[in-house]
Amino acid sequence: MDNPLKKIFSSISTIRSGSDDSAVGIDIGSSAIKIVEIKKKGGKAILETYGAIALGPYAQLDVGHVTNLSVDKIVEALKEVLKQSGVTLPEAAFSIPVQSSLIFTLELPAQIKENSIAEIISTEARKYIPVPIAEVSLDYFILPQKESSHEEMDGTPDDSGIPQKPTDKTNILVIATQNDTVYRYRSIVSGCRLSASFFEIEIFSSIRANFEHELSPVLLMDFGASKTKLSIVEFGTVRGYHTIDRGGADMTDSISKSLSIPFAEAEKMKKEFGLFGNPAEKSLADIIKIHIDYIFSETNNVLLGYEKKYSRTINKVIFTGGGSLLNGLLEVATNNFRAEIEIGHPFSKVSAPAFLEKILETMGPEFAVALGLALRKLQ
Ligand SMILES: Nc1ncnc2c1ncn2[C@@H]1O[C@H](COP(=O)(O)OP(=O)(O)OP(=O)(O)O)[C@@H](O)[C@H]1O
Ligand SMILES: [Mg+2]
Repeated sequence: MDNPLKKIFSSISTIRSGSDDSAVGIDIGSSAIKIVEIKKKGGKAILETYGAIALGPYAQLDVGHVTNLSVDKIVEALKEVLKQSGVTLPEAAFSIPVQSSLIFTLELPAQIKENSIAEIISTEARKYIPVPIAEVSLDYFILPQKESSHEEMDGTPDDSGIPQKPTDKTNILVIATQNDTVYRYRSIVSGCRLSASFFEIEIFSSIRANFEHELSPVLLMDFGASKTKLSIVEFGTVRGYHTIDRGGADMTDSISKSLSIPFAEAEKMKKEFGLFGNPAEKSLADIIKIHIDYIFSETNNVLLGYEKKYSRTINKVIFTGGGSLLNGLLEVATNNFRAEIEIGHPFSKVSAPAFLEKILETMGPEFAVALGLALRKLQ
């Protein structure tokens, strides 16, 4: 019988002869495409090139606008940015937006044989997936035993108050991705005459790019143009995940409407002044703050929920995504979270010419997903 569990990420990759020691990561975000190429030399990853292109203009909109483009338009933009940044490799790794997928954990008895896991997951997953199972592709990771035992031992003492012995359960992280999305990405890949090394849900790429060796729970916040994505990561794996339907483009939109200025001007003002405020436009900081307050209050709910469920505190928050560059965000965040806050610096994972160092530090948040993809390819 056919294995019902198609490993989407492996089955759709048609690896061409692309060189083994170079890797390209492509992140098609809602407002821009970002690409990074790295190369392995003497055991180290070296930055070859990178580039970004705003998608707004491909929909007759300003730079910074959120778009929902056809495959043809995406192909056009992607070809352009590949050309501009001089990427010539025939294959690349692609991120898939997290909103096209559903991520959840299943707890199965530990005795289950590995070769029957796929079938069991396919049956069990039906309970979690709101669309017919035939419309999604499933992928899964078995979470390390250490984690499952940790969870069992933590917060679930037996009658004597002593934590229970690990563990008669296997925890499995399941990722269900809509087939429509997978087909759409396949069309983009072939439209650009590329082949796909693999597809990966964006949060996994971002985690790879932003994390060092954190073991205790960390919250990763991706401040995108359309959405703010929260992932709680422990032992290197996703333990909780939430999307807030609010992003950088919403802030620009509000600024543009409230101050009756064009979107492009509002985007420029947001980037220049942010929460520090514009002396000539006193209400700017307040307009932005309304959105930040909303995002942080949603985030606090997610944190509380996690801390209650697992009896563990989140001591560290990492910011990523273009929106994390907002002036004054760190200060407001410090007042909101009782945790150490850090803006991710993914380019610190690769070698680059010294004169690029400063600029790469500020570009890191926008390129984290693309870099994370490329890093996986080189691993
Ligand atoms: N210096 C800055 N200050 C404030 N906002 C900024 C700054 N630089 C970039 N941004 C904002 O970051 C957003 C773009 O970030 P990013 O490239 O991560 O989004 P995206 O990947 O296209 O969106 P999504 O992940 O939601 O699909 C835009 O809203 C942009 O205005
Ligand atoms: Mg993004």
